Amino acid sequence: METTPSHIPAVRIRDLEKIFPVPLRRRQVVALRGLSLEIAPGSVYGLLGPNGSGKSTTLKILLGLVTATSGTSEIFGVSSSRVASRVDVGFLPENPYFYKFLTGAETIAFYGKLCGLTGSKLKARTAELLDLVGLTEAGDRRVGSYSKGMLQRIGLAQAMVHDPRLLILDEPTAGVDPAGSRQIRDLILQLKARGKTILLTSHLLEQVQEVCDRVGILAKGHMVREGSLDILTGVSGQTEFIIENASPDLQKEIASLAASRGARLVTARQPQLDLETVFLQATEAAKPPVN
Ligand SMILES: Nc1ncnc2c1ncn2[C@@H]1O[C@H](COP(=O)(O)OP(=O)(O)OP(=O)(O)O)[C@@H](O)[C@H]1O
Ligand SMILES: [Mg+2]
Repeated sequence: METTPSHIPAVRIRDLEKIFPVPLRRRQVVALRGLSLEIAPGSVYGLLGPNGSGKSTTLKILLGLVTATSGTSEIFGVSSSRVASRVDVGFLPENPYFYKFLTGAETIAFYGKLCGLTGSKLKARTAELLDLVGLTEAGDRRVGSYSKGMLQRIGLAQAMVHDPRLLILDEPTAGVDPAGSRQIRDLILQLKARGKTILLTSHLLEQVQEVCDRVGILAKGHMVREGSLDILTGVSGQTEFIIENASPDLQKEIASLAASRGARLVTARQPQLDLETVFLQATEAAKPPVN
C-alpha cells in the first residue's frame, strides 16, 4: 500500500482559514486564520493550544469532516476533499462515541468489519488490538461499563484497526490516569518505530515533549510557534551539567572558575524527579502482590 514517494509530506496544510457562521446572531467565529504546517512521514507532530484555539477544527478539516473557508489540506499528497485521502488514516475523535451495549471485542470487530476484515483475520486482529491497548481482560465487558481511560483505549484500537500509515489523535490521553497515559505514550513511540506518522493534540505538555518530534502552538487560530522540539525548548547560551558528590567547596570553586572565564554559574541545585515518576513509583509499590 505504501506507494507515496518519501518526499511527499504525510500532511500538508496551506493557508487554512475557517470561519463558522453563527446563525441568527449575524456574527461569525474565525476558528483558523492562515494556518500552514507540514508533517514528514514517520514523525510525531503535536498540535498544542488553549481551549478554542482551533486544534480540533484543523483535524476535522484535514479529515474532510469540515470544509475549509479557504486554503488547502492534503494527506500523502491527496486533497482532503477526496475520499481517497482517508484510506490510510485512523482517527481518534475528541469525544469518541461507541455503542454501549457492545463489548470491547465486539466494538473492535465492528470497526474491523467496516474496513473489510472477516473470519479468522478479523478475530486475530481484534485480539491483537485488545492486547496492544491493554484491554484483553475487559474485552468481553460492555463498553457502557468502561471508564473514561478504557473508552479512550478502545478509541485508539478502533483507529488502528486497518493498520493505517497516518494516525490522527485528538487528545489521546484525556481522562487517562498516569499509568494509562504512559502506556499510550509507549504505544505512540512503538507505532513511530514501525514507521507510522502521528498527528496528535494535547494539553499535557510534558507528554507531548516526550513523544513529539515537532510541535505547533496555536492561539486564536494562528500558529504562534512552530518547530522541532529541541529548538523550541532549548535555552540558548546555557549548558547544563549534573555532577555527583560535589562538595560545597567544589561548587564554590566551579562558580569562581566560571566567573574568572567570563561565564556565570546560574543554578546549582539537586535534580528533581518529575511528579509523574513519584506517582508511578508510589502506586506500583502499593499494588497487591499477585497470588
Ligand atoms: N461547528 C461549529 N460551529 C461554530 N463554531 C465552532 C464550531 N466548531 C468549532 N467552533 C469554534 O471554533 C473555535 C475553535 O474550536 P476547536 O474545537 O477547534 O478548538 P480546540 O483548540 O480543539 O479546543 P479544545 O482544546 O477545547 O478542544 C472555537 O471558538 C469554537 O467555538
Ligand atoms: Mg479540541
